[in-house]
Amino acid sequence: MRVLGIETSCDETGVAIYDTERGLIADALHSQMAMHAEFGGVVPELASRDHTRKLLPLIRQVLDEAALDGNQLDAIAYTAGPGLIGALMVGASTAHGLARAWNIPVLGVHHMEGHLLAPMLEEASPDFPFVALLVSGGHTQLVEVHGLGRYRLLGESVDDAAGEAFDKAAKMLELGYPGGPQVAKLAAHGDPKRFRFPRPMTDRPGLDFSFSGLKTHTLTTTRKLQEAGSLSNQDRADIARAFEDAVVDTLVIKCRRALDATGLKRLVVAGGVSANQRLRERLDHETAKRQAQAFYPRGRFCTDNGAMIAYVGAQRLLAGERDDMTMQATPRWPL
Ligand code: KG4
Ligand code: ZN
Repeated sequence: MRVLGIETSCDETGVAIYDTERGLIADALHSQMAMHAEFGGVVPELASRDHTRKLLPLIRQVLDEAALDGNQLDAIAYTAGPGLIGALMVGASTAHGLARAWNIPVLGVHHMEGHLLAPMLEEASPDFPFVALLVSGGHTQLVEVHGLGRYRLLGESVDDAAGEAFDKAAKMLELGYPGGPQVAKLAAHGDPKRFRFPRPMTDRPGLDFSFSGLKTHTLTTTRKLQEAGSLSNQDRADIARAFEDAVVDTLVIKCRRALDATGLKRLVVAGGVSANQRLRERLDHETAKRQAQAFYPRGRFCTDNGAMIAYVGAQRLLAGERDDMTMQATPRWPL
């Protein structure tokens, strides 16, 4: 079975075709990052308009790449939420329009379920059950995964998501958008011993996170140095390093706890922040120490993409699921 996947929840237009026998057979992505960078963050109205411009040409592109006509597809899966309402509407209405024209079923997919199962697109993919750490710009969650659609939330952020904290720290350090990769790049030149930021909510039991205090800590450290004179590049690198170490350490501590609490030996890490190299190194080390294993999506599939949506759609289609023809666009939607 072949499923077209459409992702338009935020600032990437992602389209892909997943074949349940051959795997991923086409994949295309248009990032709006450069367009939003000028404004220091995603501008929702610009995002919707750009999805409208790019989505149909990208669908044409993946069909050509796979040498298929639309009516040779078995279903269309689209991101139904959570995300920006206008952006979601573009994907949902296009998916429904094409599904009617080609007379095939349509499936609305949860964006975080896409991230959660993105490592399944890799050759070395994990078996169920596993613990998943979902770390993106909008979410930080630990989930116990027993199978398709069988998810138990273990813990989540009570305030900012990890990616959001990276983006805000980047702004304070006068770095561009999106902040995560730039903070990580700067942190590589930082002195890990100069500042020590707190590891929020690690001094008490539980699997919830809080990252808003780290933002305040970054701001006060930056301000203090500015007031005392000027903020040098080395100062900024040292702050970036302290910030990254604190976020990574906190995530590692909670993953360790989640593995212990569930007794599971497999850890999946997905979402934009899973691209972070220092986080990967630390988690590889920690899992190896307890005869466990960590699984990640390839770099391209850490951030938003159509392949993960096509994959989830294909699995749900195989499981016999079909949505009715009601269009769904749900900005806030728990997993
Ligand atoms: O999953 P994603 O593409 O979009 C959402 O669903 O939110 O995640 C984007 C987030 C941004 O906050 C970005 O700063 C962060 O992932 N990110 C990183 C890295 N690459 C992307 N954070 C830390 N280190 C990275 N290397
Ligand atoms: Zn995402």
